[in-house]
Amino acid sequence: MSERLALYKGKSKTVYDIGKPSELLVEFRNDATGGNGAKHAVLEEKGRVNCAFDAFIMAMLAENGIKTHWLKKVSDTEIVVRRLDMLPIECIVRNRAAGGICKRLGIERGRVFAPPIFEFFLKDDSLGDPIITEDHIFMMQLASKENLASMKVLTHRVNNILKPFFAKAGFDLVDFKLEFGYYQGELLLGDEFTLDGCRLWDIQSGEIYDKDRFRLDLGDVIQFYKKASTRLGIL
Ligand code: CDP
Repeated sequence: MSERLALYKGKSKTVYDIGKPSELLVEFRNDATGGNGAKHAVLEEKGRVNCAFDAFIMAMLAENGIKTHWLKKVSDTEIVVRRLDMLPIECIVRNRAAGGICKRLGIERGRVFAPPIFEFFLKDDSLGDPIITEDHIFMMQLASKENLASMKVLTHRVNNILKPFFAKAGFDLVDFKLEFGYYQGELLLGDEFTLDGCRLWDIQSGEIYDKDRFRLDLGDVIQFYKKASTRLGIL
C-alpha cells in the first residue's frame, strides 16, 4: 500500500488511513511495552506472530456470531479493519485471579472464578487505566446503559467461545481484555485479541505463555508466543 497516513501510533500497533472512509489499516509492530509504557523492548517476530494470532481468533469469533472490525490480512503484519468509533473502555473477564485483581483485592493468584468476573476499566494512560463502575461511565457520558449491557454480554460470549478452544490445546484462559466501538450505529469488537491482551497458562504445568513473560522478565517471550500458536494450530 503506497498512499497511507499514520493516524495513531499505539504501544504495539500503528493505525493508518488508506483513503477509504470506512476502513483502516492496522500494522502490528515488534514493540512490547509493560507498566503503562515504563518498560519497552523490540521483540523480533512479535508483529508477525500477533497479526497471525489476531487474524485466527477474530475469524473464529466471527464464525461464532461475534461481529468484529476485522476484514482481511494484507501482509504478515498488517490487517484491514472497519473504521470504528472506539469507546475508551476496556472490558475484562477473569476466569482465574492474576495481575490487577490480586493486588487490588488481596486475592491469591490462581483462584478460580465461577462464574467468571467482569470488570470495566477506563482507557486513559494518564490516569493509569483505572477500574470504573457503570455509574462512572454514565456520569462521563461514555456509553448508554444498553451499550454497556451489550459489551458485557459480548465479552462473556467471547469467553464462552475461547475458553473451551484454548482448553482443547491444554491452555487455561485466565483473563483477557476486549475493546469495542461503533460502526454505523452498531457495536462491534475492535482492537485485537493476542497474547499481549490475555493470560494463558498451561493447564498441567501452570507455565505462562502470555505477555506476563515480558512484564515479569521470564524471558523467551516470542518463543512462547510461537509455541502457543503452534499448539493452537495458528502457526
Ligand atoms: O496488566 P495488569 O495485570 O495490571 O491488569 P489486569 O487488570 O490484571 O489485566 C487483565 C487482563 O487484561 C490481562 O490479560 C491483561 O493482559 C489485559 N490488559 C490489557 O490487555 N491491556 C490493559 N491496558 C490492561 C489489561
